[in-house]
Amino acid sequence: MKKMWGGRFSKKTDLLTDDFNSSISFDQRLYKQDITGSIAHARMLGKQNIIDPRESKLIIQTLEEILLDIEAGTIEFSVEMEDIHMNVEAILTERIGDIGKKLHTGRSRNDQVATDMRLYVKDIAKDSKSLIGKLAATLLDLAQEHTDTIMPGYTHLQRAQPITFAHHLMAYVEMFKRDMIRMEQVRAMADTLPLGSGALATTTYPLDRESVAAELDFSAVSLNSLDGVSDRDFCVDFLEAAAVLMMHLSRFSEEIILWCSSEFNFVTLDDAFSTGSSIMPQKKNPDIAELVRGKTGRVYGDLMGFLTTMKGIPLAYNKDMQEDKEPVFDAYDTIKICVITFAKMVKTMTVNKTVMKTAAAGGFSNATDAADWLVKHGIAFRDAHEIIGKLVFYGLEHKKSLDELTLEEYKSVSPVFDETIYEAIDLTVCVNQRNIIGGPAKARVEQAIAFNREWLKQN
Ligand code: ARG
Repeated sequence: MKKMWGGRFSKKTDLLTDDFNSSISFDQRLYKQDITGSIAHARMLGKQNIIDPRESKLIIQTLEEILLDIEAGTIEFSVEMEDIHMNVEAILTERIGDIGKKLHTGRSRNDQVATDMRLYVKDIAKDSKSLIGKLAATLLDLAQEHTDTIMPGYTHLQRAQPITFAHHLMAYVEMFKRDMIRMEQVRAMADTLPLGSGALATTTYPLDRESVAAELDFSAVSLNSLDGVSDRDFCVDFLEAAAVLMMHLSRFSEEIILWCSSEFNFVTLDDAFSTGSSIMPQKKNPDIAELVRGKTGRVYGDLMGFLTTMKGIPLAYNKDMQEDKEPVFDAYDTIKICVITFAKMVKTMTVNKTVMKTAAAGGFSNATDAADWLVKHGIAFRDAHEIIGKLVFYGLEHKKSLDELTLEEYKSVSPVFDETIYEAIDLTVCVNQRNIIGGPAKARVEQAIAFNREWLKQN
């Protein structure tokens, strides 16, 4: 097949060069964005009388047919035609002859591919945001069921203070809300039209860039042609948002993996979302959570790899930038499957309430509340800390939790104690007394759930 840029060449390209240079194996994913961009360009060329309006019409009509044919799977792309841009143009020219050759007037593949990628990143940022929103909604439903489910809250993975399972889940809702905001920002960063930048220095044709932007739903037009063709910040932004999302999913996965160990036994994964061992018959493994945690490395790799690709590139376009596609595609595919599978896994797991409650009761997680009781009875906090510390020490030696100690035992350490200490260290009371904004008290968590339901509706 004749190369579109073959004019100044006297030799055919080596087959290996074709293979190495071409991106069609992966950038065919951009067919829709490419054709939509070309249709807007062709319409504008016709309106501006840069090409004959009738020719513009024919080009548009044929591009629409090509789009349908690609979707029907009847088109075979060629490696010799290098990329999606030249493949589409070659098919167009095959169908309408010389008129097809006019489409590329006033345009370069450099501003064309930048436009395609921006259209694509806008789409996937929107889709990612909505997928994360669904995961957050799943967590809100689960939280709703567990505003009374006491569990230990941890610091240093040591039992610290009692909270509820709902409160714990709601921490992840906050993270996923930020991920949604990040995806929205990615969309905004990609929302500038580079078409019209030409290869690097625009063009002499009187292009109406604003009308193209309006047709393609871009809210701005790029103001510098060198930057227009060579900016891939929006790809980095997407990869960064994807990496942070994976970091959140990975932390959550790590907790689920711990929780379904027999040492914790806080949750039991549904059989449909766990796997067995080929040798050990007793095993039920949290492979899904482990894979989500594992795939985090892959998405970080997409981000780090592409940042490294971009760091040494002089202005303006260089072929290095063809390497923007695979990491973006891979990161998107990965977060998509992870978010969807993770949501289903969480939705179907069983929460072992009694185990959680026993764990909260066993780890002296109400020790702070016991100290606070003393403070309310006139003891300075440091002294209260010391007194309760002694009681914990005593409890550890005698294998008793704070609520199992007798009043005599309490009094032996400090005469200030009376009967009301037991109510103050009741786990439910401990949780519900933390009744300020951001706290685990049932009333606060219910408010947070309601607030976030509304937030999700509006975002
Ligand atoms: N396939 C190329 C890419 O993805 C399209 C742009 C090619 N431009 C060029 N001057 N070779 O970056």
